[in-house]
Amino acid sequence: MKTKIIKLSPDNTDTNKIEEAARIIRESGLVAFPTETVYGLGANGLDEIAVRRIFAAKGRPSDNPLILHVCNTKQVKTLAAKIPVKAEKLMKKFWPGPLTFVLKKTEIVPDIVTAGLDSVAVRMPKNRIAKDLIKASGFPIAAPSANISGRPSPTSAEHVLDDLDGKIDAVIDGGEVDIGLESTVVDMTKDIPTILRPGKITKKQLEVVVGKIYKVKSPDHEKPRAPGMKYRHYSPRGKIELVRNEDELKKVVERYPEKKIKILSYRDETEMGKKMFKDFRDSDKEGYDLIVVKEVEDKDFGSAIMDRLRKASGG
Ligand code: TXA
Ligand code: MG
Repeated sequence: MKTKIIKLSPDNTDTNKIEEAARIIRESGLVAFPTETVYGLGANGLDEIAVRRIFAAKGRPSDNPLILHVCNTKQVKTLAAKIPVKAEKLMKKFWPGPLTFVLKKTEIVPDIVTAGLDSVAVRMPKNRIAKDLIKASGFPIAAPSANISGRPSPTSAEHVLDDLDGKIDAVIDGGEVDIGLESTVVDMTKDIPTILRPGKITKKQLEVVVGKIYKVKSPDHEKPRAPGMKYRHYSPRGKIELVRNEDELKKVVERYPEKKIKILSYRDETEMGKKMFKDFRDSDKEGYDLIVVKEVEDKDFGSAIMDRLRKASGG
């Protein structure tokens, strides 16, 4: 299949091009599109055959459920059997935005989307192209990150094509994403919400609105509550070593005298979140065998960065 590239400016929507992409979604096709977090690989979330294609294109294990992307709260009510008061408050505060809710699902959500769970993940993205596409298609759009399973999430259309060219119907090129790491996923099915995946919206920010929030401690060793968390993730081909300081950095460099080593460093966490996955991919293209990254403090947005770094480095 030839993958069509649809070019769009992020703030000036071309209705014809959006409609072209929306038609592909309605006809059970796959369209990758930008969101404010990472690029997603979209299909009609109520169409089992279309969703099956997402799993096939990515090589994604079928026990890892997908997020349904919506453009209004009316749509959420068709997908979620119950919206707890706390979830409603958080939606008011953080939607549209990089926050995903796990809620009890309704009958209309196909089992393939939720991997047979009785809950469904929903998110209203802020990116204008994403919102317009969902609205024009008329369906909630199921969209995991638009990478081959196990590879770093794509932060540009180029990354999507590196992984999925020829395997999907189209990609909307809307330029580079803002955040660069995937949304915060919060399980709202119990009285006290639990963060299943840290992201841009932090535990502190959530707690200001609804009080106590739990964090999944070491998801890779327990029975995973976000099934996606048990797999090797975000990984470039080169090995990743995390260091805490200059001393450890020096030791790593000395330990591998024969290796081609890339050292990644950033001004701040915002830049790190935005550029990290791209740098992993570039390091592969440039043939580095070892990528060395300096750790950040495991709090606030730093928790999201450390979560991805730990997984990328294999724990
Ligand atoms: O920012 C994002 O969330 C991006 C963009 C495209 O929206 N999407 C994304 O999707 O990161 P994905 O499929 O790569 O990650 C979804 C995560 C996985 O860890 C999955 O296991 C978890 O959400 N998840 C989905 N449905 C769930 C459910 N019903 N219960 C628990 N975890 C769920
Ligand atoms: Mg992913």
